[in-house]
Amino acid sequence: MSTQTDLSAFWMPFTANRHFKRHPTLVTGADGAYFSLADGRRLFDCLSGLWCTPLGHGRPEILAAVRAQAGELDFAPTFQVGHPKAFELAARIAQWAPEGLNRVFFTNSGSEAVDSGLKIALAYHHARGEASRVRVIGRERAYHGVGIGGISAGGIAANRRLFGALSAPFVDHLPHTHDPAQMGFSRGQPAWGAHLADALERLVALHDASTIAAVIVEPMQGSTGVIVPPLGYLERLREICTRHGILLIFDEVITGFGRLGANFAAQRLGVTPDIIVFAKAATNGVIPLGGAIVQQSIHDTMMRGPEQAIEFLHGYTYSGHPIACAAGLATLDVFANEGMVARAARLERVLEDAVHSLQGEPHVIDIRNFGLAAAVELRTREGQPGARGREAFERGVQSGLLLRFTADTIAMAPPFISTEEEIANMVELLRGVLRRIA
Ligand SMILES: Cc1ncc(COP(=O)(O)O)c(C=O)c1O
Repeated sequence: MSTQTDLSAFWMPFTANRHFKRHPTLVTGADGAYFSLADGRRLFDCLSGLWCTPLGHGRPEILAAVRAQAGELDFAPTFQVGHPKAFELAARIAQWAPEGLNRVFFTNSGSEAVDSGLKIALAYHHARGEASRVRVIGRERAYHGVGIGGISAGGIAANRRLFGALSAPFVDHLPHTHDPAQMGFSRGQPAWGAHLADALERLVALHDASTIAAVIVEPMQGSTGVIVPPLGYLERLREICTRHGILLIFDEVITGFGRLGANFAAQRLGVTPDIIVFAKAATNGVIPLGGAIVQQSIHDTMMRGPEQAIEFLHGYTYSGHPIACAAGLATLDVFANEGMVARAARLERVLEDAVHSLQGEPHVIDIRNFGLAAAVELRTREGQPGARGREAFERGVQSGLLLRFTADTIAMAPPFISTEEEIANMVELLRGVLRRIA
């Protein structure tokens, strides 16, 4: 780090600011699957940025598209006027999505995508004359970003403690599906746990279906530590939602665009939701962009009324920003031209075999994996939750890894461009880290 850099003004997100500023790690460059630090060291990008750069850093095709778009049209509103790239990108994303999900509302982030998806659900029921459907069912441990809708439907206890007063009142939650006694060290989808979806029937009985607009779940819970859906669980949620006229929303901010070895988790799992929310990898992280992909029938229901009336009172200044759309189109081209989803699918087994070889290493109490994602959970040090996770992160940096930790769980979601050797090497370096932490 340059000794000139004053670190005081930037209030860093989701960071122990005082600790960081005493022990700063400053990233100054990135190339392919590696970050470089100010002191010249290189770190393997174990989580593809924050799950958002599967194609690696410095992709010339995406950078060229961004440069060209900035020169041609740097900004245009999408309120009452439009520009071609927003329409082109929406059409391309619809082609990626399961059949029937073909209307795309753009946002700038995953949090906004979640809030937009929830608003679409409520507005849809309103449009079809069931305005009493205002309740949203989320799930324990879910992370749906930091907007008010997302923290309400989300299942993060600290959010409820701190921001409960701001949260939407009409929410309830399904139990999460993680039970280490039943599914410890599972490879892929655990066999146990489909019955946990039946909790939705009880919530329907409690609140009555006529009050419930939508169920929102991450098909694979990412931020809370890679919690993989039990076999049959999402199928059962789908069936219950359909039977009661409740919309099913998949938050695919992490799982979308190939992470599970298919375009979306919906295709990997063979379960089609009514709305998919996405962000992150849609632009390979180069420029923020997110959105909601909506069943045409939901969209069409909201297209009633006088033709000159605005059908959905919602949008962002930067919905469909031209530079973000150019980055998105170039990203999807690279995905297609280089078969990147198939490559992620091929690497799944490599990561699975490597990461499960850590069973038996110090502190390891669970290992789970699905798609090109995996988590290693460490036993919490007595009275110090999160301390081992942090130590693993810091020793990881010393060993050439940029790891991600949530409490005492270490998550990995390497770039799709990784080689088999790089994945094996990442896991071997992590083994060394585990052997050194207290
Ligand atoms: C499942 C899920 N939803 C929503 C979000 C929020 O996305 P953003 O940070 O872009 O607002 C995240 C971020 O990690 C996420 O994992």
